[in-house]
Amino acid sequence: MFFCSFLLFQTFLILVPGRSVESAMETIVHSYTQAINGFAAEMLPSQAFMLQQMPGVVSVFEDYTMSLQTTRSMNFIGLEDASGNTAANSLWKKTKGENMIIGVLDSGVWPESASFSDAGLPASLPAKWRGSCASSASFQCNRKVIGARYYGKSGIADPTPRDTTGHGSHVSSIAAGAPVAGVNELGLARGIAKGVAPQARIAVYKICWTERTCSAANVLKGWDDAIGDGVDVINFSVGNRKGSYWSDVASIGGFHATQRGIVVVAAAMNGDAGCVVQNTAPWVMTVAASTTDRRLPCNVVLGDGSVYQGSSLANFDLGNTFYPLVYGGDIPAKPTTSPARQACVHSFAAGCSPGALDPAKARGKIIFCGAPEPSSDPIKYVTDGMKAIGAIGFIVGNNAVGKERLLSLRFTMPATQVGNKAANSISSYIKSSMNPTATIKTPTTVLNQKPSPMMGIFSCKGPNPEVPDILKPDITAPGVDILAAWSEAADKPPLKYKFDSGTSMASPHVAGLSTLLKSMYPGWSAAAIKSAIMTTAYTQDSTGKPILDGDYDIATPFNYGSGHINPVAAADPGLVYDAGEQDYVSFLCNIGLSAKQVELITGKPETCPSVRGRGNNLNYPSVTVTNLAREATVTRTLTSVSDSPSTYRIGITPPSGISVTANATSLTFSKKGEQKTFTLNFVVNYDFLPRQYVYGEYVWYDNTHTVRSPIVVNAVSRLASGEGNLVYEV
Ligand SMILES: *[C@@H]1O[C@H](CO)[C@@H](O)[C@H](O)[C@H]1NC(C)=O
Ligand SMILES: *[C@@H]1O[C@H](CO)[C@@H](O)[C@H](O)[C@H]1NC(C)=O
Repeated sequence: MFFCSFLLFQTFLILVPGRSVESAMETIVHSYTQAINGFAAEMLPSQAFMLQQMPGVVSVFEDYTMSLQTTRSMNFIGLEDASGNTAANSLWKKTKGENMIIGVLDSGVWPESASFSDAGLPASLPAKWRGSCASSASFQCNRKVIGARYYGKSGIADPTPRDTTGHGSHVSSIAAGAPVAGVNELGLARGIAKGVAPQARIAVYKICWTERTCSAANVLKGWDDAIGDGVDVINFSVGNRKGSYWSDVASIGGFHATQRGIVVVAAAMNGDAGCVVQNTAPWVMTVAASTTDRRLPCNVVLGDGSVYQGSSLANFDLGNTFYPLVYGGDIPAKPTTSPARQACVHSFAAGCSPGALDPAKARGKIIFCGAPEPSSDPIKYVTDGMKAIGAIGFIVGNNAVGKERLLSLRFTMPATQVGNKAANSISSYIKSSMNPTATIKTPTTVLNQKPSPMMGIFSCKGPNPEVPDILKPDITAPGVDILAAWSEAADKPPLKYKFDSGTSMASPHVAGLSTLLKSMYPGWSAAAIKSAIMTTAYTQDSTGKPILDGDYDIATPFNYGSGHINPVAAADPGLVYDAGEQDYVSFLCNIGLSAKQVELITGKPETCPSVRGRGNNLNYPSVTVTNLAREATVTRTLTSVSDSPSTYRIGITPPSGISVTANATSLTFSKKGEQKTFTLNFVVNYDFLPRQYVYGEYVWYDNTHTVRSPIVVNAVSRLASGEGNLVYEV
């Protein structure tokens, strides 16, 4: 036996204050010049190590791959009225994003889509535009898609910024798509598709070549170019599961963009229940996903006439014919004599695992299966198995108690899923009926569904894994079953428009809104625009109750941050929590970064004070206090953005077990731009010691404005804070 040692050339990202080391490198993949001092180069790990030791090199880190996550919504967010006309108080009366540029760092674009038509756009490009288009015989820009670049694909014969996955086209058209009539998929949700900022231009940075992999080196180069090209808003939907603020390209790129007034919007990312929010830098606006009031139910009707709402994008018509209904667990394949093995076969059959069912007993029937979670992976597997045994169709019932979570899945035969309550009823019907029967209806489009919004079941949640003292996500926006432009290279037969769900669909709604606000208020900083969107968000659904999560449980700021976007209110916030470069530098020092690590992000020499504060003193539009031991104080500064003088009063709803007081009950602003500082003092009431995160809010309000901030606290126990005694604790 012998050992084979692989000398792997990997790409490393090197950040240098000057660029003196660059000439030494022969294999530079990218160099970053606009805002970020550094380059990416291929080298051996040992060379990277040596480089790290050289003077002038701030950081060397290995390239990594990131994964892409992936229209009723214009009505739902108040830009349009019920009949699809511009609503009376819509921001579209003031701006549709004219002369604004949205940079989309994603999988490219399908430029021929009608959503990217430039009809009606001015011939001249925005004066600030300095970018370019990688045009070729097979890819052309126009006055809508004004710029397009691609990064890093070697080995493709004719690389272009063209989108072959659909993701980048989808997000681009949500943010800034032109109006297109008669759009639908499977005949569902028929209507006019348009973006939030339909007059804005799009600059495409193709950093991802497949659905799952985007190299960090490409991502950073995309950021660098977007900043230099003069975009106004960057919508970024690529997640990064590793990396701290100083080694995460999105965070570094986002910092530089923000300092140039570019609003940076990113997805909170998608996953299973329990997945943790990503893209959490405080200068980025991190977006969760929620539903609109449109659903696409695919219902089950039982032989006794009862109807259960299901969810599916399976467009099959059983013609109202009722078929025998059987529970998978009652028709297991291959009975065996071993009781243990029999139990195993039964449980697989109950979940309708292919091969676990007796074909003779399944043929010609609708099969009812139990499964704990909707998931897109096993769908093809289960469907193929069902087809193979000749089943007519199947119903997946969520068998986890209290779990109502549903996703619109693309079954390729008559099939739908129902939540736990419906699953229990269907199960009882099968048990109690002599000849149970059922049919599965074709999906339909229904509007005005309540409650809405509800959180998307896939939308990843806080607490913020990097800095728990900053609440993340920041905001939620429509991201469930969004119909938007697609790449015609992604499906067979090709689809021009497709439903997709994800925080990636929510994020461009916020990018579009940021574009409208920036167009109205060109002088506002990125932090001011973010504050306006956050402090005007709402947390109640259409029934006047707290927004629910996908299981119909009450959602918290960890689901939606400050709440759901409210464009009309965001255009007149009254006051904002502003922040600039120095605020972020102090923040980075306060969370414990060394001056050298801070330099990595800011790209210039920094010093940190020897006495560090807390991260939650960043002037953020939400307030989080973690590990609260008895008492803590946070400071905030408000800036008036209103023309009229006004006095605001404070209203505080403290979290349970915590007392919260402000050092001022009212603040008077006499002119636009005036600033007022206040403190919030938090004291734990140990008689009602909260054991977990608790939530409240505070509001500064005058006659026309409500400036709301969520409060999130978790207190350490009295024992842990060193004040208690065992008797008290037990
Ligand atoms: C916006 O970001 C989302 C997620 O972060 C991404 O999926 C989408 O492609 C981006 N859209 C634009 C217009 O950049
Ligand atoms: C509240 O505290 C802040 C920060 O210390 C201070 O600037 C402000 O003047 C105080 N307000 C009042 C009414 O005392």
